[in-house]
Amino acid sequence: MDFAKKKILITGHTGFKGSWLTLWLIKLGAKVVGYSLEPPTKPSLFEILNLKEKIVHIIGDIRDEEKLKNMFKKYKPEIVFHLAAQPLVRVSYKEPKLTYEINVMGTLNVLEAIREIKSVKVVIVVTSDKCYENKEWFYGYREDDPLGGYDPYSSSKACVELLISSYRNSFFNPENYGKTHQVALATVRAGNVIGGGDWQVDRLIPDCVKALSKGETIKIRNSNAIRPWQHVLEPLSGYLLLAQKMWKEPTKYCEAWNFGPFEKDLATVREVVEKVISLWGGGKYKIEKDTRFHEAGLLRLDISKAMMKLGWRPKWDLDTALERTVIWYKLFYGNEDMFIYSMKEIENYEKEKKVR
Ligand SMILES: NC(=O)c1ccc[n+]([C@@H]2O[C@H](COP(=O)([O-])OP(=O)(O)OC[C@H]3O[C@@H](n4cnc5c(N)ncnc54)[C@H](O)[C@@H]3O)[C@@H](O)[C@H]2O)c1
Repeated sequence: MDFAKKKILITGHTGFKGSWLTLWLIKLGAKVVGYSLEPPTKPSLFEILNLKEKIVHIIGDIRDEEKLKNMFKKYKPEIVFHLAAQPLVRVSYKEPKLTYEINVMGTLNVLEAIREIKSVKVVIVVTSDKCYENKEWFYGYREDDPLGGYDPYSSSKACVELLISSYRNSFFNPENYGKTHQVALATVRAGNVIGGGDWQVDRLIPDCVKALSKGETIKIRNSNAIRPWQHVLEPLSGYLLLAQKMWKEPTKYCEAWNFGPFEKDLATVREVVEKVISLWGGGKYKIEKDTRFHEAGLLRLDISKAMMKLGWRPKWDLDTALERTVIWYKLFYGNEDMFIYSMKEIENYEKEKKVR
């Protein structure tokens, strides 16, 4: 299956990952419909790339069940990538109810809309590496490890996993495929995603870039926390590959999938900041202790299943991912045409054969 002319719905298309996914699918010739709230940041990648002009762009809330269902009925998507979410841990401490309403009930609305139409064949729901019960293990979490989540955001993503599991058993059961339904449903769990065009709050690379571009000192918390950093194109390549496999063999891949970096590319917050400063060509950081909110110290993903069963592999190691990211921001602040450059970036990624 290729994506050319396929009708694809992306929720959360105005966000960081959603904009890159939209761009990639435009490149692949898909007919993209996007349904989201307004871009969550200023500047925003969605606006920089002027994606509004290139797709069917709908501003809507996934909590608005009626509007969402009408949109599904009108555009009849064949493949759905559900990314819309309240994606921030610290916001979830301040707005726990809102976080559950958007992440859990919003996803429920998407599933209900899919139940009412016949066009949708493949659904990929983006949750998070934070959906696991984090035991601060040294080894990576596997897809069948217990779900959990200390903070409301992580817990809401674990709830989404349980919700999907129930809908897959009850309404989209692979055993009943072709009899009672024609929907293949999977979830994807990725780690800390970096790349050009993210300006979200409380995220390390945006915090670095915002400070460095103004000549200010970067403030970091939790400097020793270890995270599975990866370039945004890595998990997106996994989502696209999974969608293709699910389209071809709809009953084989309806489960949860981890997409993370190789073990050697785990790094602490401090290591990442020091590399960014060196790539930027100078800058300063200071560590600010903030103990108000619990944040995980160590988080790793086991990616063996995606490698073995999908043939997916990370292509860019941490140094390359950081280099690509810093170059992107430098070009943006230097007024480069970022649509052309970002398309080229995707092309470079596609061409990369070498597994580092
Ligand atoms: N960025 C990461 O490191 C990371 C890691 C793991 C998982 N994720 C997940 O990936 C997805 C995308 O994250 P992102 O980094 O692009 O976040 P983002 O904040 O840049 O984008 C979020 C998107 O969701 C939309 N949205 C929010 N609330 C909505 C609502 N009520 N109705 C409709 N749309 C709404 C926003 O408008 C935006 O388009 C999220 O589900 C997030 O939890 C992200």
